[in-house]
This record gives sequence, structure tokens and C-alpha cells, in this order.
Amino acid sequence: MTQTASVDSDVLKVHGGRPLQGEIHVRGAKNFVSKAMVAALLGSTPSTLHNVPDIRDVKVVSSLLELHGAAVDYDVVSGDLRMDTSDLHPADAFQIAQHAGSSRIPILLCGPLLHRLGAAVIPDLGGCRIGDRPIDFHLEILRKFGAVVEESGDGLHLSAPNGLHGIKHELSYPSVGATEQLLLTAVLADGITTLHGAAVEPEIKDLIDTLQKMGALISVSTDRSITIEGVSELRGYDHVALADRIEVGSWAAGALATGGDIMVRGAQQRSMGMFLNTYRKVGGEFDITAEGIRFYHPGGDLSSITLQTDVHPGFMTDWQQPLVVALTQAKGLSIVHETVYENRFGFTKALGKMGAQVQLYRECLGDIKCRFGQRNFLHSAAISGPTPLTAADITVPDLRGGFSHLLAALTAEGTSTVNGIGIIDRGYENFRTKLAQLGAAID
Ligand code: EPU
Repeated sequence: MTQTASVDSDVLKVHGGRPLQGEIHVRGAKNFVSKAMVAALLGSTPSTLHNVPDIRDVKVVSSLLELHGAAVDYDVVSGDLRMDTSDLHPADAFQIAQHAGSSRIPILLCGPLLHRLGAAVIPDLGGCRIGDRPIDFHLEILRKFGAVVEESGDGLHLSAPNGLHGIKHELSYPSVGATEQLLLTAVLADGITTLHGAAVEPEIKDLIDTLQKMGALISVSTDRSITIEGVSELRGYDHVALADRIEVGSWAAGALATGGDIMVRGAQQRSMGMFLNTYRKVGGEFDITAEGIRFYHPGGDLSSITLQTDVHPGFMTDWQQPLVVALTQAKGLSIVHETVYENRFGFTKALGKMGAQVQLYRECLGDIKCRFGQRNFLHSAAISGPTPLTAADITVPDLRGGFSHLLAALTAEGTSTVNGIGIIDRGYENFRTKLAQLGAAID
């Protein structure tokens, strides 16, 4: 397949203290593109996905598809990704683990592979270390459809000796991955599947649109219920991926933290409502056009806020980390309550080292009594500002926390050393080039 192989250093020197200003372009959402690539496995004819970013997660899923016999061709300039999955074969757990790296995508291959090959394997899964991130919801769903799950030294082996049959299911928490698991399995299962308590993130809606193009029958109600009537065959699709709203929000936070002005081409208002409301409350300004969204700091003080992360249509957890960097520059005490992941404030330790005033709490500091309240997790934060940040030597903990470290280094006066920045390539396309386009001094 045609892909660019970027060999970049894992350490970035950031000479901070200057505003990010200029124009960048954001392409398709990592958290949709990877799932749409898995959906291609369900089609008996080739699929084409457009607006695909050149990020490591796309390379990982491409190699997982290729490992199972798919032909994948990616044109990095146009962003067109063609997948021919007409001729599939099984792969072994060791190879899957080697190709999956830290990705959690292998769990989502199970339904499609059980339909197409009658068997699937899941190695030990990675992903960002932002909580326990169990797969119990996924396994419960797969078992209910009729999958038999056997544990062995190299991972979990799944088979479906009696086929996969529609189920009635209710999620105890609207998990994105579990909703996708159910969709990707139900579309070709025999009979009708109903899901209550579904996640309804824009990336899931785009996946449903994609599956509909393939021939699936899916109806979504306004009360988090989804009904799927199984069909016997699906064809390939042609689809343009929705924009990466997490990347858009990350650059927007960068404009605010550094006192800058960034035009994000490709940004779409419709998936960013709660982010835009919050941005405005903090004191950021934005102009929405047909080409994208311009985010800027209008001058003067930023305002402190109270914020709770939540499933869609709430304020998404992945926006929390970049925005916290901007909140270190807001006047007064901001309160942030993280209700999706129990351990998503680890990145604030580096901010503290750089001069930010962040205090973490085990209590729920907000009106949502979340799943972590009565347990021992530091999942609420109080941020006092504004505090000038000073340069430091810091190490990236995870994807979103890593981008936040980068933003903190760009905000801080002096030269910071940011180690382990390779993680950021998982989900931020060409971020070094984009930083240069925005006038950042990095080397
Ligand atoms: N959960 C369980 N059991 C499960 C699955 C999830 O308890 O079997 C819990 C999780 O531990 C977590 C909560 O449910 O506390 C929500 O997890 P969810 O399943 O919704 O998350 P995910 O599908 O693993 C996706 C994104 C994340 C994003 C979340 C929430 C992808 C590849 N990942 O994860 O994105 O934060 O939804 O919107 O789509 C990122 O891009 O950096 C990232 C972490």
C-alpha cells in the first residue's frame, strides 16, 4: 500500500511563549475512520473511504485488514482509502498482537470476522492508559449473539458454531465501543437486534450511515435505542468521513492557551455544539464558515468555568485534557469533573511542574454522581489561574494528555523538552508540520 513513512524523533524541543496563528486543515475522525475500516470487512465488494488522515491508527487497522487477506490502498494526498475484502483468511494471535501495537481495535474485528470466517482472535489489548478500559461489555454482547469465547495463552479465541442470532440488549453505560461492537455484529446476524442505552456519538451515527450504504437496516430512536434487522449480505461502501472533532477541539484549545488565532479548515459545527458553548463561556471567540471554524483569543481575561465530561451530547472526555491547559490561563477557579474515565488527570502532574495550580479530588465535584464517586479515583480537578507556565522537561503519558503537554510547552516561556511525542502520531495527522504552519518554534 502507498503510505508515507515518517521517521521523526521521539523528542521535541518547544520554544514556547508565542501565539499559535495561521491556518491548518483537519481531515477525518480517527474514532470513526478506524471503525469504518472494520465495517469494510462485512462487505462482499470493495469499499472506499474518503478524507482519511495519515495517522498511525489508520496504518494499524490497514495492517490488521491485510493480515486477514484484504487488499488496502491508501493515497495520502487525496485521503482516499480503498479496501477489497472479497478474499479473507484467518490470522494468528501473535501476528495480530504484533500489528495491533497499543490499539484496541482487534476487539471490534470479532463480529465481522465471525460472520466472514467463523472465527476470530483477540490478543491482549492496549490503548491509552487512562483507566482500566475493560472489554466485559464487548464479550457479553458477542456471547449473547452466540459466540463461544475460549481463553488460551495467546489471547481469546472466538467461534460461532451455531451462527450469530439477533439479541435484546441494554448497556449499563453508553459505551462507544460496545455500541459499535453490537452494530458490527447485528447487521449480518440472523433476526432482529434491539439495543437500549446506546452511545450516540457523531462517529457512531456516521458508522450507521456507512452500514446503511452497505445494505444494513438500522433505525435509531431519540431515547438511545437502536434496532437492527439482520440481512444476509452486505456490499462495499463509498463514504466521506466526518471531521475529527477531537483534533479540532485540541487546536482550538491551543489558540486559547497561547493567545492565538487558528483557522481550522474542515471543522464542522454540527458535531461540536457543546465544545463551542464551553469555548464561548471561557471567553474564546469563533467564526463558523463553510470552509471551517476560526478559533481565537479576543484579548483580555479568560473566565473560569465548571465543566463535566459526559457521553454525547455532553462535553466529550477527549476535549477535557487540551481545554484544561487553556483553563490554567483563565481568571479564577475552574472545576472539571471527569465522568467517563476514572484516571484521566495524570497529565496534570506535568502542568504542575510547569507552574499550573491544579488540585485533584476523589469526590464528584459536579451534579452528576458518576460511577467513580464512591471509589478511590482522582477524577475531579480544581484549576486556579491565571498562572504563567515555565518551560520543563516532560514526558507524554497518552494521546490526548500528550497533546496537552505540547500545548503547555507552547504556552510556557522558555524551551521545553517534550519526550515520547511519537504517541501523538496515533491520532494527530502531521502535527509537527501543522505546528510549523502556526508559527510554533520547534525542533
Ligand atoms: N467500559 C467498560 N467495559 C467495556 C467497555 C467500556 O467498563 O467493555 C467503560 C470504560 O472503561 C470507560 C467507559 O466505559 O470508562 C467508556 O468507554 P467507551 O467504550 O465509550 O470507550 P472506547 O470505545 O474504548 C472510544 C474512543 C475514545 C473515547 C471514548 C469515549 C476509539 C478508538 N476510542 O473509546 O477515544 O475517549 O470512546 O468517547 O473510538 C482517544 O481518541 O484518545 C480515545 C481514548
